[in-house]
Amino acid sequence: MSIVIITGGSRGLGASIAVQCAKRGMGVILTYNSNRRAAETVVDTIEADGGKAVALELDVSHSETFPAFRDAVGETLAKTWTAKAFDVLVNNAGYGLYNPIASVTEDEFDGLFRVHLKGPFFLTQTLLPLMADGGHIVNVTSATSRVATAGVAPYAAFKGGLEVLTRYMAKEFGERRIRANSIAPGPIRTELGGGLTPEFEALLAGQTALGRVGEPDDVGCMVASLLSEENRWINAQTIEISGGYII
Ligand SMILES: NC(=O)c1ccc[n+]([C@@H]2O[C@H](COP(=O)([O-])OP(=O)(O)OC[C@H]3O[C@@H](n4cnc5c(N)ncnc54)[C@H](OP(=O)(O)O)[C@@H]3O)[C@@H](O)[C@H]2O)c1
Repeated sequence: MSIVIITGGSRGLGASIAVQCAKRGMGVILTYNSNRRAAETVVDTIEADGGKAVALELDVSHSETFPAFRDAVGETLAKTWTAKAFDVLVNNAGYGLYNPIASVTEDEFDGLFRVHLKGPFFLTQTLLPLMADGGHIVNVTSATSRVATAGVAPYAAFKGGLEVLTRYMAKEFGERRIRANSIAPGPIRTELGGGLTPEFEALLAGQTALGRVGEPDDVGCMVASLLSEENRWINAQTIEISGGYII
């Protein structure tokens, strides 16, 4: 059985990725930051459908905690799956912040940096010894790295940085047959940045060729499919999942 670790799997896109991976027979380790209850609900959903999932706590903005997290993953693999390695890491955890460049504070900038770029970098580095050869890293970026939308400059810049990092991961980990790809969602109905007001949703739907915002399963199904053997030759890419956002 293939085992996937999904950061920020308690809600939104991460929860959908977790459920869709489990539906395809993968074992799931999902992480939460503060919302343990939501994470346990995702675990219950997966187990009610016959799958196997474990929720672990992780704050990706605190890289000093990553070695202890790696130990917790190792124990979970041994106890739950009698396994020594996992196969897939989805760096998904994140949060949104709307503030124009003119008023972004250094603390806001640093907070976004730690979660969206530094966290995925050092978490991947820390977990590499536990990742199976032939594995896969999926970094969740954003369509805002392609189009400049109002008020998300540092967020978008770090997502763009994560796309560059993805290519370097693919290059450096290729000798272990580990592939690395970014997926870049357009606007999706989650609680990111406080969620969507009806007015904001209408605006975003009007900017999307298919005429609506995305739902979490639009992303979850795509990621689960990307991980499948049929897509084994996709490597070092950024794939936008947006229904055609601002084209
Ligand atoms: N929704 C969109 O329109 C959209 C578009 C493009 C890209 N994205 C990206 O997709 C990813 C998921 O976002 P979402 O829309 O699903 O947001 P969401 O519904 O707000 O869920 C965010 C998830 O990330 C976790 N998280 C937040 N801060 C964390 C931290 N410091 N350490 C560890 N986990 C943390 C949350 O954990 P708790 O539940 O414990 O708080 C939750 O599981 C993010 O990287 C986001 O930038 C989203």
